[in-house]
Amino acid sequence: MTQQSNSHHQHWGSKFGFILAAVGSAVGLGNIWKFPYITGENGGGAFVLIYLLFIILIGLPVMIGEFVIGRSTGRSVCGAFKHLEPKKPVWHGLGYLALITGFCIISFYSVVSGWVIGYIFEALRFSFSSFDSPETAQNHFGNLISNPYWTITLHGLFMTLTAFIVVRGIKDGIEYWCKILLPILGVILLILMTWGLTMPNAHEGLIYLFRPNFSELTFSSVLVALGQAFFTLSIGMGVMITYGSYLKKDINIVSTSLYIVLFDTLVALWAGIAIFCPIFSLGMNPAGGPGLIFHVLPIVFQQLPGGYVFGILFFILLGIAALSSAISILEVPVSFLIEEKKMSRHKATWLVALVAFWVGIPCALSFGLMSKVKWFFGRNFFDFLDYISSNIFLTLGALGTAVFIAFVWKLKPAFEELAKGGGKVKKLFALWGFLLSWVCPIAIGAILIAKLMEF
Ligand code: TRP
Repeated sequence: MTQQSNSHHQHWGSKFGFILAAVGSAVGLGNIWKFPYITGENGGGAFVLIYLLFIILIGLPVMIGEFVIGRSTGRSVCGAFKHLEPKKPVWHGLGYLALITGFCIISFYSVVSGWVIGYIFEALRFSFSSFDSPETAQNHFGNLISNPYWTITLHGLFMTLTAFIVVRGIKDGIEYWCKILLPILGVILLILMTWGLTMPNAHEGLIYLFRPNFSELTFSSVLVALGQAFFTLSIGMGVMITYGSYLKKDINIVSTSLYIVLFDTLVALWAGIAIFCPIFSLGMNPAGGPGLIFHVLPIVFQQLPGGYVFGILFFILLGIAALSSAISILEVPVSFLIEEKKMSRHKATWLVALVAFWVGIPCALSFGLMSKVKWFFGRNFFDFLDYISSNIFLTLGALGTAVFIAFVWKLKPAFEELAKGGGKVKKLFALWGFLLSWVCPIAIGAILIAKLMEF
């Protein structure tokens, strides 16, 4: 053990286990539910291109930065900033922002995950076999998500499942489950993608996804692409700081981050192909909103041979991906309570899960009882939470982290931390320092300021 002050601090059991847990955090609803639906809303190829640029030039450097902060302090998000800069409380604000962001994200995340669990049951009980047109599928989904009992029960069920895993801690809970669940996810997704590619007119989906058409791109789309880059990589709210704090010193942070980013991006693109090929093959509308995969895929499953099994597999896959991400979000406030408030893991987990369950209730009601209540430029509570947490809070968190490392903590100690376990890639450190100090703050700052001026 290194300078970690807290002797109870846990560590990952193996390098592979850590990578799987980090990939498990990154790969989730963001890749399979959100990426296709916002790509559809923002016009396709040009949006995808900008998103990929943000992932490489901004997301990757910030992820490396979060791991460096976490591992060098051995603390989770609030403790880490306090430890590195005890005399400048402004920077401690980044830790509290992360906690707030975590509650916002987990609340709507758990609601969507609840829909996914519900759709596993729908798939099992042959509901999709009655879908003969896009309208029937849309109405079916609309009826379910406007039913408060259905949404709240499933949201509660998902929250409970998440808490069960988090209670078991790092090695036995998060790492153990990710090792089992993630490889299954990869295999199912590859099958779905291959199958999507063989559908008639599948190439139109590929064109939509990969041929940039910049006339479709608006300025708002640029901010959404930036927010999505952070959301999908789980950065900007200290998840990777917290996961980095359980990391041993002999691990090469740069190459590990590269793998995580690469795999996360591949999964998003696989999911994009698996969803847009059928959409274009069946002549549906790509801009279907948050319900996109729930409207489109059941019809696809229903029309295809073997679709009954594929339908069940798909929603199980999505549930698994959501669970391994949700545990990482919950882990941020839980580790804060354990470290800073000296609570037991057990108590901390159930307390956080309970609060998140309550915050999630208005999200769960946003498409039914509370659909007429508008919060922010005509958004319901669900869209409002999603919008501010993904596009504003995560962006501010990432900006703060980059500026903090480059100009407050300074790069030298960060380079020293990176060098531990990172001998062979030393040449990349300078490039990382440049991206983090200049490209990230300037690009994120410019996009945020331009957005503010729109109001
Ligand atoms: N990255 C996950 C996804 O794509 C969601 C997620 C997990 C997340 N932890 C996070 C998003 C932390 C933002 C911050 O579904």
